[in-house]
Amino acid sequence: MTLLHPLVVALSVVLCAAAHGETAIRIDPGSPGARLDKNLQGQFAEHLGRGIYGGLWVGPDAEIPNTRGWRNDVVAALKELRVPVVRWPGGCFADTYHWRDGIGPRERRPVRVNTLWGGAKETNAVGTHEFFDLAEQLGAEAYVNGNLGTGTPQEMAEWLEYLTADGDSELVRLRRANGRDEPFPLHHFGIGNEAWGCGGHMSPEYYTNLYKHWGSFLRPPWDSTLRFVASGGHGEGTKDRTRWSAYLTEHIEPDFLLRFDAVSLHYYTHPKGNVWSPKGAATGFPEAEWMSTLVAALEMRELIADNKAVMDEHDPEKKIALYVDEWGTWYDPEEGTNPGFLVQQNSLRDAVVAALTLHVFHEHADRVRMANIAQMVDVLQAMVITQAEAMVRTPTYFAFRMYRPFQGATSLPVQQSGGRRYTLGDESLPAISATAALGKDGKILLALVNVDPHLAETVTVSLASGDPTVATGEVLTADRMDAHNTFAEPRRVARESYSAVAAKGQLVLEIPPKAVVVVTIE
Ligand code: AHR
Repeated sequence: MTLLHPLVVALSVVLCAAAHGETAIRIDPGSPGARLDKNLQGQFAEHLGRGIYGGLWVGPDAEIPNTRGWRNDVVAALKELRVPVVRWPGGCFADTYHWRDGIGPRERRPVRVNTLWGGAKETNAVGTHEFFDLAEQLGAEAYVNGNLGTGTPQEMAEWLEYLTADGDSELVRLRRANGRDEPFPLHHFGIGNEAWGCGGHMSPEYYTNLYKHWGSFLRPPWDSTLRFVASGGHGEGTKDRTRWSAYLTEHIEPDFLLRFDAVSLHYYTHPKGNVWSPKGAATGFPEAEWMSTLVAALEMRELIADNKAVMDEHDPEKKIALYVDEWGTWYDPEEGTNPGFLVQQNSLRDAVVAALTLHVFHEHADRVRMANIAQMVDVLQAMVITQAEAMVRTPTYFAFRMYRPFQGATSLPVQQSGGRRYTLGDESLPAISATAALGKDGKILLALVNVDPHLAETVTVSLASGDPTVATGEVLTADRMDAHNTFAEPRRVARESYSAVAAKGQLVLEIPPKAVVVVTIE
């Protein structure tokens, strides 16, 4: 018998009448795979639109309740996700950012124009100290991206000293005068962003030389575990898909004077593949764009596999990680908004994209040790959307909340057989996508996505050793493919409880159409 939330029961009654398939899942708890780094659920917050100013930072004097300037409502929502790591200040913005603009008394900081993103006024009210305060409020690791595009090696080296040094240097004294005694807990440092594009339109050869040159002068304390990230390739077209990972891994040999711990990879999902304009709408899209978006999102699997293959050639021991430090859906901007602010609605489709993408990261967790969805607040595939003092959690937020137990879990092999395919036009996907892991509490976690927007699917679950008795967890679904949360209706798409009991040694889970289900199996 399956115990479901009433919404799911209603959907199942209607839809189970239609023909639906049966997918068999077998999980082997005795053959654990790679650890799923908690940072696979990382976030990215750029000085872009309301991504920092307004959506997260309102300033200490604002009427909107805040703690030292950061919105209490947004921080509380993000804390619930246990955001493991935040990348800041960009993105493209990082290569225009001069860190000295963002320290010292706020009223004396220079005002600049954010020429990259909508020509917005950049007050520099959020700088180094504010960012680390946010990371601390969230309990997240800090990933700072340095400016290789318009900075100098000296400026970058000095920022690193300001952040990490102890003792009695002029920069440490400056940091102390600005209110921070101890070094900041910096975990990851990026040397430039998208060097192939907004970061300077460089070739991998040129960038690699710069990385070696600049990286040689970046000296954190000798016992620091800070990880250095090289700007890598991207998934647009075919030219740069693996060229960057291959070149960087082959040509940078880390030693105690040159640190190199990860290559970054960026991939955005557009409904029309690599067509940038028009990209497609965030809501009100046809079923063809539901399908094409999911197909585009799953390109991530091949992109990572290809990058892993070239990295394996030069780094078989997998010392260098792959950080997918920008990913997510990117649609046409919301009508009436500044197109440079990248504002878009977030629907059930985005939650499904998020879940499928996390499954891909789990498959490749031996090499992919960080991923940062773009972006955390009010930009692209955001966790929350704000308007003045109002805030709404998006379907993507709820998907992340459901996958939270996978942070730090150990992946388990899943054998999948049978089941229907969801087919539309020339495209076809297995209806069910599954991922399993051994949670930190020793319990088995299983996540399932039904990508078919019309038909439910029965999933039988068995274990290679032992019989499951019960599965309890949550389901995320809605009546429409583009269902989304608004300020007037903030929980139209929200997680609901879900459970199923076993019969004859296997669990039988009814997975509604266009749904994400995460359960713990006992
Ligand atoms: O996330 C928006 C932008 O997308 C980032 O600034 C850039 O790195 C990428 O091209």
